[in-house]
Amino acid sequence: MILGVPKEIKDNEMRVGLLPSGAEECVRRGATVLVERGAGVGSGFPDEEYARSGAKIVASAAEIFVSAEMIVKVKEPQPQEIRMLRRGQILFTYLHLAASLELTDALLASGVTGIAYETIRLGSGELPLLTPMSEIAGRMAVQKGANYLEGSNGGRGVLLGGVPGVAPGHVVILGGGVVGSNAARIAAGLGAAVYLLDVNLSRLRYLADVMPANVTTLMSNPANVRRHIQHADLLIGAVLSPGAKAPTLVERDMLKSMQPGAVIVDVAVDQGGCVETVRPTTHSNPTFTVDGIVHYCVANMPGAVPRTSTYALTNATLPYILSIAGKGWRRAAQDDRATAEGVNLVDGVLANRPVAETFGMKMKDPLG
Ligand SMILES: NC(=O)c1ccc[n+]([C@@H]2O[C@H](COP(=O)([O-])OP(=O)(O)OC[C@H]3O[C@@H](n4cnc5c(N)ncnc54)[C@H](O)[C@@H]3O)[C@@H](O)[C@H]2O)c1
Repeated sequence: MILGVPKEIKDNEMRVGLLPSGAEECVRRGATVLVERGAGVGSGFPDEEYARSGAKIVASAAEIFVSAEMIVKVKEPQPQEIRMLRRGQILFTYLHLAASLELTDALLASGVTGIAYETIRLGSGELPLLTPMSEIAGRMAVQKGANYLEGSNGGRGVLLGGVPGVAPGHVVILGGGVVGSNAARIAAGLGAAVYLLDVNLSRLRYLADVMPANVTTLMSNPANVRRHIQHADLLIGAVLSPGAKAPTLVERDMLKSMQPGAVIVDVAVDQGGCVETVRPTTHSNPTFTVDGIVHYCVANMPGAVPRTSTYALTNATLPYILSIAGKGWRRAAQDDRATAEGVNLVDGVLANRPVAETFGMKMKDPLG
């Protein structure tokens, strides 16, 4: 199969869909890999590394889209990319179709076979191609929060770890899933006093077992949220109700009970956020302040660390790329239920039930 790896063109997106080592693996198994010139540079992988791995460097995205049977990307295709997609071609990337009717309509019209990273789901319910980005965002949430807590950045001037004779900072984390548990581990490692809230008791039991002693697990309910945000230096939003908008756990008037200069990092902003006052921000303008509380609400946090993110993403995507490239998407989906769940679009028809239900469109079973 001919695989094509275009350079990402979404604003500030520096990740790339395939590493040189991944390209080498594909070539070793008989695929041809076309990489657009400069595609890996933002993540620190020069063209020469791809060339050494056996990939062919091509000058333009147009050449990739014309020749490749499967396009491997990171972000959803942008309008000028959509115009180059064609029926029968496979597109393997994050699609997030339910968030955009415009994108869904345009991809349906192209006839492309769209396989979405975010809907590949294991039998356990885990979303293996979303998990690495949540791990990164959770860890970054503490790094960002610590930075904005500095006085010169508008924060209340608290060092999360404290020092001998001075108490550590308080970190309150709403949601103890992938983002929340990664944030808790990093905050605990810095020496902060960490309070980790979740609604799922068996998850809390597990977290209480594996987390360091400076992490306290708590049932998430309005009383506990109200009580603990009052002492928070850093509040991290990390809840998820799959497929739905995040529940609002911190309402606007509750901000007044927080300490001036405290920092909120609402990682769940991509699902609407769990703090009423959040709105999505960007890496170039990441924060705003409401009632004296600094809000950091960047919706694509992993984009700030493209090298780590590219490694983490492609570690997870490569087995699927090899399987689809080796067998074709249909056989790969027949052999593996998780891959089948990733198929969102086939020949101009939706193949994913939640997306079809979101837009009231018809769907067909991808393997039917
Ligand atoms: N901003 C970014 O760059 C970025 C990056 C990665 C993930 N995210 C987002 O972060 C959010 C969390 O992702 P995740 O992978 O950790 O999800 P997850 O499913 O692993 O964890 C979510 C947790 O929230 C808990 N929860 C649900 N309702 C709750 C409530 N009312 N109170 C407390 N806990 C509650 C669940 O029990 C679960 O443990 C998602 O919205 C995800 O899309 C954002």
